[in-house]
Amino acid sequence: MSDKLLKVLAVIGSLHRDSVTRTVINLVANRLQHDGCSVDVLDLEKEPLALYNPDTAHDTPRYAALQARVERADVILLGTPDYHGSISSAMKNFLDHFWREFAGKLFATIVASHEKGLTVTDQLRTVARQCYAWSLPYGVSFVEEEDVKGGKVVSDGFKTRLAMLLRDVRVYGELLARQRIADLAGKDPGFLARLRK
Ligand SMILES: Cc1cc2nc3c(=O)[nH]c(=O)nc-3n(C[C@H](O)[C@H](O)[C@H](O)COP(=O)(O)O)c2cc1C
Repeated sequence: MSDKLLKVLAVIGSLHRDSVTRTVINLVANRLQHDGCSVDVLDLEKEPLALYNPDTAHDTPRYAALQARVERADVILLGTPDYHGSISSAMKNFLDHFWREFAGKLFATIVASHEKGLTVTDQLRTVARQCYAWSLPYGVSFVEEEDVKGGKVVSDGFKTRLAMLLRDVRVYGELLARQRIADLAGKDPGFLARLRK
């Protein structure tokens, strides 16, 4: 990879003041940083995005700055609460803003849910597929007050799932980032050929 560090954009998709999604994404971001990754946290509560409008969304300096952050990332770590079996509107709105910038990158997903968040995970995987991104072959979910309490991960099960995610983000994130760079620079007819400059 260009500068050796795996670059992760970690997106907090809950606007809730006391969000458990925020707690977990920040914990994972700290761990990834500790493990040698470069991590950029996008907290949509602190950095609100206007509702996506295809006629105007790309015209602001704010959009250009965010686009550069998404472009820079090798891995997109997405955290969202389960809202009616679906992703939060804040998360959907973020995702609507980009696709080329996601292509060939790895999505890793974490869902706060009382019901395993399977439909939410599936929706994030669908977005990844539509945008030519890869996703880990599983999603991680957790239950507030059972798995995360007082700002800490308290269940052994969730600790194990997070350890797996942290390891896989680094290993598969690096593999895919290396191949993405090679494909963008190469001449083979892979799916990234259309994104060569
Ligand atoms: C509008 C709304 C809809 C929700 N729908 C569901 C749901 O369908 N299934 C579920 O398990 N939890 C549902 N929840 C609960 C949240 O997913 C849960 O409280 C989550 O931990 C909140 O995460 P946050 O604190 O990061 O926002 C819903 C909460 C809200 C506010």
